[in-house]
Amino acid sequence: MRSYYKTNEWSVIEEGFEPQKHEASESIFSLGNGHMGLRANFEEKYTGETLQGTYIAGIYYPDKTRVGWWKNGYPEYFAKVPNAPNWIGIHVLVEGEDLDLHTCKVSDFTRELNMKHGYLERSFTAELKSGKKLRVNARRFVSMVDDEIGAIRYTVKPLNFSGEIEFISFIEGSVVNRDSNYDEKFWEVLNTGAEADLAFLHARTRKSGFEACFSMMVEVSLNGKIIPATSQSLLSESYAGKSTLVSVSSGEEIILWKYAAVLDSLNYTHHQIVEKCKQSVRRAFEKKFDRLFDEHSAKWAVNWTNSDIIIEGDPLAQQGIRFNIFQLNQTYTGRDERLNIGPKGFTGEKYGGSTYWDTEAFLFQFYLSTESDHVARNLLIYRYKHLDKAIENARKLGYHSGAALYPMVTMNGEECHNEWEITFEEIHRNGAIAYAIYNYIRYTGDKKYLAEYGLEVLIAISRFWKQRVNWSERKGLYVMLGVTGPNEYENNVNNNWYTNKMACWTLSYTLEAINFVKKSDPDQYHRIVQKTAFGFEPESQAWQHILDHMFFPELNEEGIFLQQEGFMDKEQRMATDLDPSERPINQHWSWDRILRSVFIKQADVLQGIFCFEDEFSTDTIRRNYEFYEPRTVHESSLSPCIHSILANRIGKFEDAYDLYLRTSRLDLDDYNREVDEGLHITSMGGTWMSVVLGFGGMRIREGMISFNPHLPKKWKSLSFHINYRGRKLNVNISEKKVHVSLIGGEPLQVEINGNRVQCVQDT
Ligand code: BGC
Repeated sequence: MRSYYKTNEWSVIEEGFEPQKHEASESIFSLGNGHMGLRANFEEKYTGETLQGTYIAGIYYPDKTRVGWWKNGYPEYFAKVPNAPNWIGIHVLVEGEDLDLHTCKVSDFTRELNMKHGYLERSFTAELKSGKKLRVNARRFVSMVDDEIGAIRYTVKPLNFSGEIEFISFIEGSVVNRDSNYDEKFWEVLNTGAEADLAFLHARTRKSGFEACFSMMVEVSLNGKIIPATSQSLLSESYAGKSTLVSVSSGEEIILWKYAAVLDSLNYTHHQIVEKCKQSVRRAFEKKFDRLFDEHSAKWAVNWTNSDIIIEGDPLAQQGIRFNIFQLNQTYTGRDERLNIGPKGFTGEKYGGSTYWDTEAFLFQFYLSTESDHVARNLLIYRYKHLDKAIENARKLGYHSGAALYPMVTMNGEECHNEWEITFEEIHRNGAIAYAIYNYIRYTGDKKYLAEYGLEVLIAISRFWKQRVNWSERKGLYVMLGVTGPNEYENNVNNNWYTNKMACWTLSYTLEAINFVKKSDPDQYHRIVQKTAFGFEPESQAWQHILDHMFFPELNEEGIFLQQEGFMDKEQRMATDLDPSERPINQHWSWDRILRSVFIKQADVLQGIFCFEDEFSTDTIRRNYEFYEPRTVHESSLSPCIHSILANRIGKFEDAYDLYLRTSRLDLDDYNREVDEGLHITSMGGTWMSVVLGFGGMRIREGMISFNPHLPKKWKSLSFHINYRGRKLNVNISEKKVHVSLIGGEPLQVEINGNRVQCVQDT
């Protein structure tokens, strides 16, 4: 596949303006800093097709759920991420004529997402209808250091005329979402205002009552000299801006710097927010663009030291993985435990910016391995803080005695997704949340986490599993009926192997955790018993009984774990039997046909094997992989990464590489033809895993980190950075050798291809 964007190790570059690709590029060139983010909308007016997107972390709109048949237990609302007031706007009027790339002739257009330094830059020449030509360059970033701040440097050079150019820099509050029902508006503007030096807009989301304040300041230079440009305030009920008029001669250069601050009610009260927002933008203004940018770029240098992956010999793969790492770092920084990671991050409206099991199952490992421990810990604390709501959620569905069902989709702990087969049945998400606690402790060694927070969550989830299974007289075993596994192309199935496995594993891990805390920290144990009214004898015995008597569907003679009971009654077809014109099946087949078919949307049994790999022999893994891979259509972006890791594990290296390619450049090459909606942030976490766990073969077993790598043929070398138990490691893998160097921290024993070596810092 030819890539639309130029291949460059550190940048994504678009050359030439193709309006029909504009919305896709708006996603690709998105910027974010964990607190806020924006699609690559143009600063100046644009009357062509565009998906406007400015997002603030943690802010949501509780939209009415739209369902034909209301079912008891359905959530009250579906959370949407509101497109926030636009603070980037700079309209350019050349002697009264609008600069609009939709209506003028555009040449020498380039757009660059510079991943090394974290900025977006765009240059073009525009010829207006009047024949006036100008060259424009616009660079912007959202600060990684001061996450309330964004800045734009907008440069204009008239090429064939002299005259007056008016710049209208503004904040627009009258914004809409593409996914709003009946054109409903999600924001109401409370106030707009201006002072000599700045303008601001204070808005509140309807229904959910979140507030956000946006402030802006501008400065202008002509031929390198700051000019006291006449600036007029422009205010309306939902708009605040400044107009700046500059007289310019052909060939001269005007630079307009726009500084913006975005503050929200997660951090400021109603009474503070406007004043604080003005202070923030003035602070940014005083620092000036270059210093703000240098600080921001220095932070990116640190991010890259922690998380870069270098692939030699495959520039496409190199760009792909850096793009993924860049977006992951932009989406979540771990600064605020109230925040989480939407499947599309700050790049689109789909999935409403909400938290899915994606976080624990696909994204967690990236942050765990590349950031200091508190970042992954904050992701766990996020769920800990939602425990009461998860218990409440389970109660609404008829569970009791402190059983918790975490929501499939949430912004604040409440379930906000209304498809019954997902909300009520995709309960395996509870297992992913328990597994993340285990994964965190396995990686960091921070066992204290169990006593402090983890055990309460584990007990509540185990109580749920206990109540969710039932005893089958006929089988003489426990069964779990009416579930949806990770493969959403099956609903309401009995005994999904993955879900049963997750449930049993949680029960067993909880028992282990209880015994550990009881012994190591009796005070905390006592506190937890009191708080949760935990009955050691009856509860642990009941859980053990389930563990010992759970039914797992299997094809015994062939050593295959069956995705669910009845799976073999389906017509056994392979994905290669499908006519390419029918794919993706979710766009060509009725839901009825999909449900009855054998085709698998995403790793399901294989997801379980991935999690509990050490329990299975290589032969068992191979048999299951060979059974499921041909039946899998990978119509979720979360699928190929898991298959790729397992393919590496069983020595199917070509498969591993092919599957990896599908995830690594999924968005850059727009494999699914939907990148205009936003990026697949979750899949990016999966891609990272397929490099480090897959090709790098990294594993943690009993406190020992090990690498068992295998490089794709094309790659000359692979190196990556890892944070592990207070150490910074660099792992360098080439065809001939594997070198693990300690960059920071105490000496450490690591295992490379089965041999233990001591890693010390180079002196
Ligand atoms: C996948 C889910 C995932 C969701 C959000 C769906 O297509 O099947 O597993 O949680 O997307 O990424």
